[in-house]
Amino acid sequence: MTSPILSVLDLKVHFAVRGPFNRRIGAIKAVDGVSFDLMPGEVFGLVGESGCGKSTLGKTIMGINQPNGGEIWFEGRQIDRLPPAARRAVRKSLQYAYQDPGASLDPRWKIGRSLQEPLVIHSDLDAAAREQRIRSILEAVGLPDTHLDLYPHEISGGQQRRVGLARILTLHPKVVILDEPTSGLDVSVQATVLSLFRSLRQTFELTYMLISHDLAVVRTMCNRVAVMYLGRIVEAGPTEEIFDRPRHPYTRSLLAAIPKIGGPRITRDFWLQGEPPDPGNLPSGCRFRTRCPKATDLCAREEPAARPLGQSSVACHFPD
Ligand SMILES: Nc1ncnc2c1ncn2[C@@H]1O[C@H](COP(=O)(O)OP(=O)(O)O)[C@@H](O)[C@H]1O
Ligand SMILES: [Mg+2]
Repeated sequence: MTSPILSVLDLKVHFAVRGPFNRRIGAIKAVDGVSFDLMPGEVFGLVGESGCGKSTLGKTIMGINQPNGGEIWFEGRQIDRLPPAARRAVRKSLQYAYQDPGASLDPRWKIGRSLQEPLVIHSDLDAAAREQRIRSILEAVGLPDTHLDLYPHEISGGQQRRVGLARILTLHPKVVILDEPTSGLDVSVQATVLSLFRSLRQTFELTYMLISHDLAVVRTMCNRVAVMYLGRIVEAGPTEEIFDRPRHPYTRSLLAAIPKIGGPRITRDFWLQGEPPDPGNLPSGCRFRTRCPKATDLCAREEPAARPLGQSSVACHFPD
């Protein structure tokens, strides 16, 4: 049996909410007990509404945010408590593609220099070897050499994504976290960027964690999907099962909200009720109950644990 390349165990990331005189008056539980395994070579999708903790989870895996609890394992080694130097070495293998790669490129630097920088910092390649690697990766992401001499504002949004990817790939990572990789792109550009992700995964033997609120993207790209709601994974399983047989009321309502995907399979309308609760003041019991048409007293009393159903895992007292 293959073992996971990355494992997250009961991860918690809480942000302090401060009042007058900087007193701690509460906490936003951005990630609140998340567990999953990432198998080598797979594309694992993470979906959920804005603010549910997707980026915080990704950044905590990267070591950008510190967890308040739980464990992160990479290639059989616990990485969340490594001293800084050892952690930096691991970080080369784990890369995070920002939602807006334009923002991660220095506007005053030509593309060539932006691509050099990670190699200068993290590798001991000489100038000629760096140059060679950059050219081969630029070709892999489908950009001509001439782009090395352009500034970020001189290229399109789609091309900026390609440069952002090239920048990550220069370090030969093993796991890439793609955070909303297609948001803000035209639909036609989205399609070419997605097919680029597919071919790069093959070429560089990558494992992806794909974060998106766009269910269509997740459905076409991922072999496994986890649905997140206010800091917790409420349902996870093989993509087909999640889309064809959603069992958690939240997953069902997400799918129903996009008729062109979930429509024919979900016969009655199953819209989300109301707004998500304040993440700094979560409801008792199941955190979805305030918007759930099926909620009972039990849901207010007891937080449902994730349990296996079919090939999925579902955290609901009354799954379908
Ligand atoms: N650095 C931070 N300090 C305080 N609160 C934060 C910070 N980062 C994120 N949050 C809060 O954590 C929650 C989850 O945010 P985020 O992970 O960005 O969600 P998503 O990526 O799913 O949209 C939100 O309520 C957000 O306001
Ligand atoms: Mg986000």
